[in-house]
Order: sequence, then C-alpha cells, then structure tokens
Amino acid sequence: MIKVAIVGALGKMGSEVVKMTLNSPEFELVCAVDKNNIGTNVAEDIAIEGDIELALLKSKPDVVVDFTQPSSIFENIKTYLNLKTKAVIGTTGLSEDQILEIEKMSKENNTGIIIAPNFSIGAILMMKFAREASKYFSNAEIIEYHHNQKKDAPSGTSIKTAQLMIENNSDFKLGNCAETENIQGSRGGEFIQDNKGHIQIHSVRMPGFVASQEVIFGSDGQVLKIHHDTINRACYMSGVALAIKNVFNSNSFIYGLENIL
Ligand SMILES: NC(=O)c1ccc[n+]([C@@H]2O[C@H](COP(=O)([O-])OP(=O)(O)OC[C@H]3O[C@@H](n4cnc5c(N)ncnc54)[C@H](O)[C@@H]3O)[C@@H](O)[C@H]2O)c1
Repeated sequence: MIKVAIVGALGKMGSEVVKMTLNSPEFELVCAVDKNNIGTNVAEDIAIEGDIELALLKSKPDVVVDFTQPSSIFENIKTYLNLKTKAVIGTTGLSEDQILEIEKMSKENNTGIIIAPNFSIGAILMMKFAREASKYFSNAEIIEYHHNQKKDAPSGTSIKTAQLMIENNSDFKLGNCAETENIQGSRGGEFIQDNKGHIQIHSVRMPGFVASQEVIFGSDGQVLKIHHDTINRACYMSGVALAIKNVFNSNSFIYGLENIL
C-alpha cells in the first residue's frame, strides 16, 4: 500500500482526496494537514495537523498530495522536495519561473513530483483537441467558468490550454480591426508567451459552477466550440490516484497529467 499524506485536507478538493484514499485498497492515509480546524478527525486515527514539515517527518508518507492555495504552494513544494518526499500537486497559481525552479529542485533532490493544473480526463481531452484545432484557425478565445471561491484568475487550465495551442499556431489574431474597450477588461486578458499567443482569456466567477471551459475558434464563415463541464469534484479523483501511483515509482519532474496517461 502507498502511504499518502494530504495537505489542504479540509478543502473542497482535499476532502475528496481524503475520501478516495480511505476507499482505495492501494492507498493508506497516514497524515492530513490543514491550516484550519487543527485536531479535527478526518478518519478514525487521523487528526488534522497544522505544521506540514513536522507532520511529514512524523508520518513518513510515500507521497504527499497538495490542494491548498496559490499564495503558499511554492513554499509547500520547497518543503516537500527538501524532505525528499514525492509529491502530487493540484494547487494552481505557480508562475513559469517557479515551475522551472521546482524542476531544478526536483532533479537536485532526485525526488519525483507531478504538477497538474487539471486532473480530469475530459479536460485533458479538451486541451488536446484545442491544440489540434489550433492549426486550422486564425482566431481563438477561451472562456473559463469557476465557482466564486476560486482565488486565481485566469485558471491554470486555461493558461495550460493556451500554451498547448500556441505549439500549433504561434500567431492567432486578436479580432480584425482597431478595438476600443468602453469598459476596461471587457475583452478579457491577452495570453502571450515568448511573443506568441494573442489568445484572449475571459474568467467568469459565480456560484453554481464547479469548473467549465470553452475554447472558441473562428475563421471565415465558421466557428468551432470545444466545451468541457466539471459536474462535481469526483471527476478529478481517477487522475489524482493515477498520479500518486505514477510518482511512487518515479523520481522525475512531470508537468501535466497528459504526460502520464
Ligand atoms: N488540479 C486540479 O485538477 C484542480 C481542481 C480543482 C481545484 N484545483 C486547485 O486546488 C486548489 C485548492 O482548491 P479547493 O477548491 O480545494 O480550495 P479550498 O479553499 O476549498 O481548500 C483549500 C484548503 O487548503 C487549506 N490551506 C490553504 N493554505 C494552506 C497551507 N499553507 N497549509 C495547509 N493548509 C492550507 C485551506 O484551509 C483549505 O482547507 C486551488 O488552487 C484550486 O485552483 C485544482
């Protein structure tokens, strides 16, 4: 059995991972950490701990899973890699520079880590199809929809989608005429990386949504929409389980679930 620790165990995603771990014959939950409600039991013999480093040193997990928040994820990852604890990271909000630094740290410490902005197979396919369609269209925009408690915008998935899209089309157009924004931000945020991109990303935040995304392509006389809806958070769990099993047997740095499917 793989010994699993969960950081952010009381959150919307973390509590699903707790449930999945407790119900799996392949995993043993050895530790649960959160910054809130320390001492609360999440299983018969597992109470929430508040100090990540102490909790990991005590429970010695094979793999730590992190679903916390963008403002603390980089520091959390440094702790995991310094302790040489393999990690599965679902928390979003890491910058490009931070991801490069994590890759370097993972190699230096010979410790495996999988970072995935999205663990749902449908979302991975949406990104794959968007990458493929990019070859054939001149204009593309992304609308992503999330619940109103999401702290970062645009979503990690929309950024990852845009990165994949520019692999097949390095120069989308932004509309076709001079544009004026009468309300600032109404055209969304422009994704550009290494002078490539020109993909507008629009972020919707409101109660009712879990996570949805629409990638819209246009060219003369036609529009193609690729749409994915997350109905509930259970959809992420097969991807999280796959990542735990994969990183348990690996010392590599992996970014994106598509690289282990
Ligand atoms: N990769 C994916 O497939 C995927 C899917 C959904 C959400 N997410 C991301 O996962 C993260 C968590 O999302 P959520 O909806 O579960 O959020 P949430 O706010 O419901 O849960 C976060 C939990 O982490 C705890 N926490 C925050 N900082 C902490 C710290 N430094 N140490 C210990 N505990 C800490 C909070 O107390 C809370 O219980 C977000 O970044 C979100 O964007 C990723």
